[in-house]
Amino acid sequence: MNDIQIVDVSARDGLQNEKNAAVLSAADKAAFIRMLAKAGLKRIEAGSFVHPKVTAMANSGEVAELLTPVEKAFPQAIFSYLVPNLKGLERAKAARAKEIAIFLALSEKFSKANINQSVDESFVAIAPVIKEANAAGIRVRGYISNLFGYDDLPFSPAAVAKRSKQLIDAGCFEISLGDTTGIGKPEMVEPIIVALKAEGVSLSKIAMHFHDTFGSAIANVDRSYALGIRTFDAATGGLGGCPYANSPKGNLAMEDLVAWYQKKKLHCDVSDIAALQRAAAFIYKKLGKTAA
Ligand code: HMG
Ligand code: MG
Repeated sequence: MNDIQIVDVSARDGLQNEKNAAVLSAADKAAFIRMLAKAGLKRIEAGSFVHPKVTAMANSGEVAELLTPVEKAFPQAIFSYLVPNLKGLERAKAARAKEIAIFLALSEKFSKANINQSVDESFVAIAPVIKEANAAGIRVRGYISNLFGYDDLPFSPAAVAKRSKQLIDAGCFEISLGDTTGIGKPEMVEPIIVALKAEGVSLSKIAMHFHDTFGSAIANVDRSYALGIRTFDAATGGLGGCPYANSPKGNLAMEDLVAWYQKKKLHCDVSDIAALQRAAAFIYKKLGKTAA
């Protein structure tokens, strides 16, 4: 029995912000994802069915196709795909996705730049996507970005909690709260937890998605765990970030997350650090990246 769940976002959130990622073939990506599954990861974001202007993700359909034998070899692994709208859902269905992730934000500025919608518009427009996905047997994760605020958005735990409840009520099985720019500090986690509880949101449905821009991701994980959060997103090799945010630095590195839980003597089956390092080395080489 695992004490924590880990979601690997390196092949999506990681690669979408790597400047050379568009050169990666679908076969390279599928080989990388296979290595992640071999390292013990059970939840892996494999791509995005967004506008093809996000060139790093444009071959996600082909990646999904190539993952069919990987799904057979690692039947406990679930591959997830980012979906912004009904068109994306159609592509996810065609790829026989079992899980999608919808992604909304709290900042008007970020939302407009990211998905060309206001915050209110986006929460209305996504409801039929969630409903149709669930009806097709595809489970839906919901991302909420700007957890700790943004240029135009003050820190607002109540808004985070209200929007989380809204997405759970709409049919998301889990909400991943994104510190998109990595500005969070451990002391900012508790007000979020208090607000979620006040809104009646079970912490078992919440994941934390930290970026490591200012080096506080592990401290934020540690505080979140102490307060009852059990699911964390991380990117193998600390790849990526978000091209639509101000500070597109890397995600929390998987290797740091594994070292953290091992130090705390927690159990999780993502324990093969050497296998994770091999996966990171493989993709770094393909990207022409030198240092982790
Ligand atoms: P838009 O231009 O407003 O869309 O983009 P539209 O509905 O007006 O359509 C324009 C064209 O796009 C049409 O084609 C559509 O068919 C096409 P045309 O008729 O001109 O030939 N189109 C699509 N094509 C393929 N797949 C689709 C799709 N939808 C429309 N799904 C849209 C709106 C949302 C599509 C676009 O802005 C978009 O794709 N944005 C996503 C960008 C992205 O990948 N962002 C992820 C950033 S990471 C993040 O959000 C944070 C996170 O990591 C957590 C955290 O750290 O906080 C999740
Ligand atoms: Mg992110």
